[in-house]
Amino acid sequence: MLYMIDSANIEAIRRCVDLYPVAGVTTNPTIVSREHRPLADILKDIRAVIGDDRMLHAQVSASDTETMIAEAHRLNEFVGGEFIVKVPVSAPGMKAIRLLSQEGMRVTATAILSAQQALMAAVAGAEFLAPYINRLDNIGGDGCKVAADIVHLLKVHQLPAKVLGASFKNVQQVQDLAMSGAQSVTVAPDVFENLIRHPLTDSGLAQFHADWEQAFGEGKTILDML
Ligand code: E4P
Repeated sequence: MLYMIDSANIEAIRRCVDLYPVAGVTTNPTIVSREHRPLADILKDIRAVIGDDRMLHAQVSASDTETMIAEAHRLNEFVGGEFIVKVPVSAPGMKAIRLLSQEGMRVTATAILSAQQALMAAVAGAEFLAPYINRLDNIGGDGCKVAADIVHLLKVHQLPAKVLGASFKNVQQVQDLAMSGAQSVTVAPDVFENLIRHPLTDSGLAQFHADWEQAFGEGKTILDML
């Protein structure tokens, strides 16, 4: 499983990268707009925090193929390192995915709401396919079922693309997605931190701590004893 952070907030990214096994960061126009800072500063800061070896997926803003491709080139030059351009699965986007993949650029096909969109993007050459789980669940769909169908189609048709589950609002959605065999997820920092939270873990650790201090004294660690 590749875990990615779905955010453009530098402090949140810094904290997650420090604590967790993070493979990369993903952004989209909405996520970037929330920071109220110049795009160049945001991208530069994210790259500085995650280093060159982690993936940075940044999305094009245009709606026509030609401008999407030009934006992808500009982003690639500017961001450097392991850069993956996010391109939506509109008709012009599908063409951009094909042309960018043909020239060797790594592409994440985004705004996927159906298995057919994902299959076509994979055939066009996308490396990652990002189905929007919560947005489907919100309208009575089943986001994880769509993701599971995509995983199945990739296997049956022997396509090398990976599913990058996106748009999560709770831990159960991430769990269901992981059970589908999807290879990666991108999760906003608040939900990301909840992935490992459990009240019984907290109370268990508090008990260990209390028992230890009672037996060996306040503030003592193993380093004081061995
Ligand atoms: C990531 O690639 C998507 O842009 C993102 O997860 C969408 O999330 P949202 O549905 O919370 O806006």
